[in-house]
Amino acid sequence: MVMADITGRGIRKSACSGIQGSSDAYSTAQSCIHQWKHGTVVAGVPWKNPVGTASGTFNLDACGRFYDVSQLGSVTTKGVSPVPWQGNPVPRTAEAAAGSVNAVGLQNPGVDVYLRDELPRLKHLGATVITNVAGHSDDDYCRVVEKLADSQADMLEINVSCPNVSAGGMAVGSDPAALERLMKKLRPLTGKPMIIKLTPNITDITVVARAAADNGADALSMINTFVGMRINVDTGKPIIANITGGVSGPAIHPMALAFVYKVRQALPTMPIIGIGGISNADDALEFLYAGANAVEVGSAALLDPVAPLRIAADLDKKLDERHGLSDALAKGETWTV
Ligand SMILES: Cc1cc2nc3c(=O)[nH]c(=O)nc-3n(C[C@H](O)[C@H](O)[C@H](O)COP(=O)(O)O)c2cc1C
Repeated sequence: MVMADITGRGIRKSACSGIQGSSDAYSTAQSCIHQWKHGTVVAGVPWKNPVGTASGTFNLDACGRFYDVSQLGSVTTKGVSPVPWQGNPVPRTAEAAAGSVNAVGLQNPGVDVYLRDELPRLKHLGATVITNVAGHSDDDYCRVVEKLADSQADMLEINVSCPNVSAGGMAVGSDPAALERLMKKLRPLTGKPMIIKLTPNITDITVVARAAADNGADALSMINTFVGMRINVDTGKPIIANITGGVSGPAIHPMALAFVYKVRQALPTMPIIGIGGISNADDALEFLYAGANAVEVGSAALLDPVAPLRIAADLDKKLDERHGLSDALAKGETWTV
């Protein structure tokens, strides 16, 4: 089968080989689908369960073969820019201990193609869709949000945290004044719930979290990847053509958790989506206890496309025994340890 072309060269063969043409992944997916008992509410939007996909790690053509995508709490799309972007030169990925480094560079076909093809397909399948918005400038972000304003997207996630673009991305999300300026332009363009996706590459995340909240963000998602690199010791050269990339996967889970905890302490009622290194239901539960209203699963889905659904099903069972937490989530309320 053809897998998502996430790296620009296709997913690593080793990552796919266990699932290529596999009926196991399909049967796992079928066994995960059931009546959800524990939903959540993020910025007024109901999710069937608290588990969504993280941007850039979900591909409908790949995942839709294994499971009904409407069963996820939400589906976050790859970043969408005003015009098609080619992304960065290859190689774009490198292995790391308990994770990987990527510098895909937000390759995507542009907002017009997205609105014509991907979004209608996702909505037709019944998915709760978060459209991830990418830009190299304030004007780029505005052009995309304007086009999405009357679309079928349920929520927008503004990526002001990508470490792999030369302008926009993390440069905006690590500067509270730049973020405030952008928010003042974006907020009047749409009434759709707007999630601001935060970077961990910053000294005090609460400063930018407040800048987003004070200027009309409906929710925060955190975190995007950490800046990192790998070097090939045979050549002495960086493995990734972009030299640095973003680190994701289990290695970043404890740090991501601390970011969510800190922002929850600073902003007790702000809806938060926790992201970073989730590979099982316990990882997800930790985020919920730290104060997240929901989570997104990223890198785990690159190794196993069914991972978000499996984690959602396991979490649903674990929430049976945690009435305080599950009741709070169902009401869109927050939890603090
Ligand atoms: C291959 C790849 C592509 C990604 N593309 C995007 C993107 O387009 N927009 C975005 O906001 N985040 C993107 N991310 C970041 C993820 O959504 C997520 O924040 C990060 O990987 C941490 O979660 P994880 O450890 O579960 O992977 C990407 C991550 C990976 C690994």
